[in-house]
Amino acid sequence: MKRVAILISGGGSNMVTLVDSMTGDHPARPCLVLSNNAEAGGLAKARARGIPTAVVDHRPYKGDRPAFENALAAAIAPHGADIICLAGFMRVLTAGFVTPWQGQMLNIHPSLLPKYRGLNTHARAIEAGDNEAGCTVHEVTAELDDGPILGQARVPIHEGDSPEQLAARVLKQEHALYPAVLKRFAAGDRTPITLG
Ligand code: GAR
Repeated sequence: MKRVAILISGGGSNMVTLVDSMTGDHPARPCLVLSNNAEAGGLAKARARGIPTAVVDHRPYKGDRPAFENALAAAIAPHGADIICLAGFMRVLTAGFVTPWQGQMLNIHPSLLPKYRGLNTHARAIEAGDNEAGCTVHEVTAELDDGPILGQARVPIHEGDSPEQLAARVLKQEHALYPAVLKRFAAGDRTPITLG
């Protein structure tokens, strides 16, 4: 059974769908939910599900990313994780943290990568006049929102959509895609999947 640490910064809706999916014959179980933000709403949801939680606040490490990443690694280590899932974790991770986990760390990003790396993906897709958007689960490398793609889900962009309306439509697909990819990944299957 693989052990999964999930890193969050906010509400943790993707974390919840991952945790709730890891039951029965699923080849993984959650071992930790960690946030860089003590106020993250997802922490209470994890506790309510009996998952150990940890907080590593990035703010005291301002300007010293390696020290923050060392603290992250130290907080994760006692939990014996085999896989890390970034689920709305809004800190950029550098090679020092990522390299030892390469091939064992996943991220979900709210765009159809390689389009729209970084922030404000929905506003940028609308602004560009795209007629579809979506989300991507990929392996994490030291390059931002890069790395082998493991799954994508597509949604239409409707005339007059606001970024918030589009984000809600994409988030629904994130909740289907991430658990589907994790289940296959934990079983050793890295064949990309497409939903929608
Ligand atoms: C999700 O839409 C996720 O794709 C995005 O943050 C949201 C977190 O929501 N991640 C990124 O933008 C990473 N760069 P959640 O806390 O409800 O899962």
